[in-house]
Amino acid sequence: MIKIAVHGICGKMGEITARMISAQKDMKVSYGIDPFTNGNSMGGAPVYRSCDEVPSDESCDVIIDFSNFKAIPALIRFAEFRRIPVVVCTTGLDVETKELMYNASKIIPVFHSANMSVGVALLKALAAKASTVLGESFDIEIVERHHNRKIDAPSGTALALADAINEANGGKFDYVYDRHSRIEKRCKSEIGISSVRGGNIVGDHEVLFAGENEVIELTHRAQSRDIFAEGAIKAARFVFERENGFYTMEDLIVI
Ligand SMILES: NC(=O)c1ccc[n+]([C@@H]2O[C@H](COP(=O)([O-])OP(=O)(O)OC[C@H]3O[C@@H](n4cnc5c(N)ncnc54)[C@H](O)[C@@H]3O)[C@@H](O)[C@H]2O)c1
Repeated sequence: MIKIAVHGICGKMGEITARMISAQKDMKVSYGIDPFTNGNSMGGAPVYRSCDEVPSDESCDVIIDFSNFKAIPALIRFAEFRRIPVVVCTTGLDVETKELMYNASKIIPVFHSANMSVGVALLKALAAKASTVLGESFDIEIVERHHNRKIDAPSGTALALADAINEANGGKFDYVYDRHSRIEKRCKSEIGISSVRGGNIVGDHEVLFAGENEVIELTHRAQSRDIFAEGAIKAARFVFERENGFYTMEDLIVI
């Protein structure tokens, strides 16, 4: 039985993750950490208000985190001190926190990705590959669609897709977000990135390769937030068996 602690267990993603862990045959939630706990247990597992409150005889094999960027330094110090592999899914981490994670990864396995969907990781890898195979005669455009409550644009995932394509091509692309302000023809060295906002769309990402006589489209559609918890649980299984080091979703995808 793999014992998982969930950091941020009272939040939307923490609750989904705890529920999905409990549904696995070989996993259980050993405890949770969340300052907004009302002191009750979650599905039989105790919930502590902070890492400092976790008793020294309380054990787990991996920590999965969906919390707040401000909480990550304390979590990393806790995981490092207790030698527990950690899967950090919280986004918006600053440079210092990332550095703390890289340093900790010399002592424990640390996994981090701003998008824990296995499907998105696969889309990134496929788009990067397609761009090198298709070459310069194909124009690349990325279109992302999200619900009407999202305030940032383009999505971090659209940018990550563009970055994956750009890295595979020696960094030769510029990103163009707003064609309205440009009265000129599209040039070959650009990736156009467009955002659509409406209704309750969980998150769609489409990478378009448009040639003279054919168009290739690679599309990922998220249908529920469960995909992020699924990815986090896969990552937990992955780090459970790994040496110390820093890992991302790219390490889970082999194509
Ligand atoms: N990587 C991904 O694929 C992915 C997917 C979804 C969400 N996220 C990120 O996960 C984070 C949480 O998302 P959410 O929608 O569940 O948010 P949420 O606000 O519903 O939940 C956050 C939880 O973290 C708890 N928390 C705050 N400070 C804490 C601390 N010091 N220690 C422990 N817990 C603490 C809060 O009490 C809350 O219960 C965000 O950063 C979000 O962007 C990442």
